[in-house]
Amino acid sequence: MNWLNFLGKSKKAKSEPDNQQTKQLGSLKDAAGCLIMPKPKIANYREFLILGYDGNQRRIYASDEEVMFPDGCLITSKTDLNGVITHANESFVTMSGWQRQEIISQTHNVLRHPDMPSAVFEEMWATIKKGEKWHGYMKNLRKDSSFYWVYATVIPNIRHDVFMGYTSVRRKPSREKIIQAEQLYQTMLSEEKNQTDRLIRIN
Ligand SMILES: Cc1cc2nc3c(=O)[nH]c(=O)nc-3n(C[C@H](O)[C@H](O)[C@H](O)COP(=O)(O)O)c2cc1C
Repeated sequence: MNWLNFLGKSKKAKSEPDNQQTKQLGSLKDAAGCLIMPKPKIANYREFLILGYDGNQRRIYASDEEVMFPDGCLITSKTDLNGVITHANESFVTMSGWQRQEIISQTHNVLRHPDMPSAVFEEMWATIKKGEKWHGYMKNLRKDSSFYWVYATVIPNIRHDVFMGYTSVRRKPSREKIIQAEQLYQTMLSEEKNQTDRLIRIN
């Protein structure tokens, strides 16, 4: 299957979950200002070192626990031109597990799951930098090492011919599409392992 054609349809979302509060707590960052992911409290998880394009290295943990995308919910965020998050809605905060003040000024790399092939993001960036809309399926990593699947639309914000940044709107994907994406991404990932790897498995 050509993954570029692997696009699904989604139903219009109704509303965000309510009664979600963002706690005003401090966050742990390393010397480079990257968020430090807490070690999971559960026994079974995979540990990786992930090297960002900016040269920063983060330790991440991924467990097999899935958190379901709530029905009728939209997860939205906005970035500047460099992909630095300037806005995240309450659903983003709730689903990512990070607090708002932790993720604002970070990049979405904080959501990068080790099961996601780099090629998906490369194609996404190439598309949006041309000023075009991109759609695709993403497995996102939560702060507690669990994950959630989204069907994401990433839109370049262009006002009066000036590139302002990007907006992403994420909807609930169907289980059928998630299964297809999982299979496709596993194949892509195994092919990528032969190339320069920015993802090092520790355990
Ligand atoms: C508006 C916008 C939304 C994004 N949403 C996600 C997301 O939900 N999950 C994700 O892993 N990456 C997302 N990205 C891509 C990340 O910035 C990053 O490219 C990706 O996590 C891969 O990390 P890497 O570029 O360091 O390899 C988004 C980027 C933009 C501009």
